[in-house]
Amino acid sequence: MFLVKRQNKAHAPYALPRKGDAVSLCESEMRIREYQESDRRHLKEITVICFNGVSIEKNIEELLGQIAGKDWAWRKARQIDDDIATNPNGIFVAEEDGRPIGYITTRVDHATKVGRIPNISVLPACRKSGVGRKLMDKAFEYLSSENMECVSIETLEQNAVGQKFYPSCGFREVARQIHYIKRLEAT
Ligand SMILES: CC(C)(COP(=O)(O)OP(=O)(O)OC[C@H]1O[C@@H](n2cnc3c(N)ncnc32)[C@H](O)[C@@H]1OP(=O)(O)O)[C@@H](O)C(=O)NCCC(=O)NCCS
Repeated sequence: MFLVKRQNKAHAPYALPRKGDAVSLCESEMRIREYQESDRRHLKEITVICFNGVSIEKNIEELLGQIAGKDWAWRKARQIDDDIATNPNGIFVAEEDGRPIGYITTRVDHATKVGRIPNISVLPACRKSGVGRKLMDKAFEYLSSENMECVSIETLEQNAVGQKFYPSCGFREVARQIHYIKRLEAT
């Protein structure tokens, strides 16, 4: 888990681009806007594309196979429903040519004043051009406006990008955690 402390108080038919698509993808103007309900399906699709290989749910499936007939993608995408249900006003979408290409979700806790970023992702074809950092800055601005004093985020040891990206945003490592899973005997 990484934690960052706020420094100052100021504060048409849809087709997802894929990695092999034209190089011109994601080169036109990008804007960050607030979440709207029509984004839900796209955010879930982006999540499944982006978290393949960097999610606990996928690791579990590789170990145990599907659970209750549901695959890792279904479980991971469900987290977006949870983010939307909990704090829709704290979700920001990166959009290009009217098409979502990435997003960030946030949580606020007015009792602890420690906000959280549960999910951030940018489509593979649109990465490494500063979209992730702009989403992160937007989340910082929003969490500051909600009077959060700190923000936490987590990444997996297998996620090399996360471990480079978050410290570069000012996050400091707090702890490492080990996740276990076990199938229960049928009764
Ligand atoms: C993490 C993610 C959102 C970054 O999006 P992005 O638009 O590529 O990010 P940016 O272009 O703004 O880059 C931000 C920083 O991340 C780091 N970074 C990005 N891509 C990297 C790569 N391939 N290797 C190493 N570091 C990388 C760099 O520190 C970079 O800053 P710099 O360009 O100033 O060096 C994107 O890679 C992604 O969606 N990954 C899959 C989902 C995921 O891992 N989400 C986070 C879960 S914890």
